Amino acid sequence: MNLILLGPPGAGKGTQAELLQKKLNVPKLSTGDMLRAAVKAGTEIGKLADSVMKAGQLVSDDIMINLIRERILESDCAQGFILDGFPRTTAQAEALDKMLVQMGKPLSLVIELTVNDEILIERIAGRFSCAACGTGYHDVFKPTQVKDTCDICGSHEFIRRKDDNRETVTSRLSAYHAQTAPLLPYYRNKSILRSVDGMAEIKDVTASINKVLGEASK
Ligand code: AP5
Ligand code: MG
Repeated sequence: MNLILLGPPGAGKGTQAELLQKKLNVPKLSTGDMLRAAVKAGTEIGKLADSVMKAGQLVSDDIMINLIRERILESDCAQGFILDGFPRTTAQAEALDKMLVQMGKPLSLVIELTVNDEILIERIAGRFSCAACGTGYHDVFKPTQVKDTCDICGSHEFIRRKDDNRETVTSRLSAYHAQTAPLLPYYRNKSILRSVDGMAEIKDVTASINKVLGEASK
């Protein structure tokens, strides 16, 4: 299955993509994670992306399209992939359509996580992840089972994202509404958009996504 998870910052794309990749046994391709890795490694793309991400704006379409094209061509995507954070503009969506036609890998579904803007700041402000394995948590909604210990790898080191502050989140939300929300009608017109209530508890959102996937494969 070739899936897109679509939604504003904090909607739960990364959380659900992590769970889905285990269930479907296909990789999640998170452009935010890819860019953060590039910033950390100090690559050319990382240098270009760093200030843009800190400002809560979007990295250029050319960079993002090339990044995702190369990633989808890797062998682990042969059976499918889950896109988290891409596409984010109409230009990216059109380029994705074109490259997937060339690769013979049509999109199966686009799953929108619908969430009110008010809850997003709370979600983002409480988010942290394991510094060693990257597993995502939340101070209130998804704490570690044992205090200060990663459930998955046992590490005691955690990090918070540089762009997870109130000011940057406001810019990220504006960018979403102006540049990414127009993708909803774009995919609705192709009859591949499904919407899921992203305000529910994490396990209930997962159940709704599984239901949508089950209906699609009938
Ligand atoms: P990116 O990393 O994609 O950030 P984002 O879209 O702002 O989304 P987030 O990662 O903040 O939220 P999420 O939906 O993954 O939520 P999560 O599951 O973590 O992009 C970062 C930046 O990179 C962009 O601003 C841009 O500059 C650049 N970029 C990336 N892709 C780009 C592209 N294609 N083009 C141009 N620029 C690009 O959940 C949030 C928190 O809530 C977590 O703590 C989680 O535990 C909790 N939570 C999740 N679900 C629930 C629930 N149902 N109930 C309660 N809590 C929940
Ligand atoms: Mg994310």
